[in-house]
Amino acid sequence: MIATLIRLFTRAEPSLSEARSHDAPALAALHDVSFRRGWSDGEFEQLLLDRNVLAHRAMASRRLVGFIISRKADTEAEILSVAVAKSLRGRGLARNLLNLHLRRLAALGVAWVFLEVDEDNEAACRLYRRAGFREVGRREGYYASGGSSGAAALILRRDLA
Ligand SMILES: CC(C)(COP(=O)(O)OP(=O)(O)OC[C@H]1O[C@@H](n2cnc3c(N)ncnc32)[C@H](O)[C@@H]1OP(=O)(O)O)[C@@H](O)C(=O)NCCC(=O)NCCS
Repeated sequence: MIATLIRLFTRAEPSLSEARSHDAPALAALHDVSFRRGWSDGEFEQLLLDRNVLAHRAMASRRLVGFIISRKADTEAEILSVAVAKSLRGRGLARNLLNLHLRRLAALGVAWVFLEVDEDNEAACRLYRRAGFREVGRREGYYASGGSSGAAALILRRDLA
């Protein structure tokens, strides 16, 4: 009991660092439980080996509990995906990952960052708006599946320069 309490109160914040190709299986596993369509280990490995791709990870007790990944093209970048383990959501981890990622992109000379988000994804929309992203377009019915009309994809942009 006392040991559990000590562990609870001394639990370290997840540490943030750049992700490398050997993180591909862990990123794929977290992506798989976070999105309807998974990306394979191989797809992540290809991305992480691409020198225009930047990824950050959050580690807690040697477990990957969050990541963010983007692709750079000249002075633009697109955020491809971000996810946090369910048990650690709502504690500011995605915000910390996004802030670190944007700082690094700015240091690499990126001036504008774009992304697409499901307008019904409240947590993601709040995350991006709070970080200064603004809507610059929308694709109606983008997330339609089967007979349902589907939510729109919002295209958001944040200037870094
Ligand atoms: C979106 C996601 C990455 C947010 O991660 P997180 O670590 O929980 O986010 P944070 O704790 O940093 O919170 C970011 C904002 O989202 C809000 N938020 C978090 N969980 C929420 C929820 N379930 N419902 C509504 N808002 C929520 C927070 O309040 C915060 O907004 P605020 O600053 O205005 O208070 C996480 O929910 C996730 O992995 N979702 C599944 C994958 C996904 O949808 N990724 C985004 C694709 S574009």
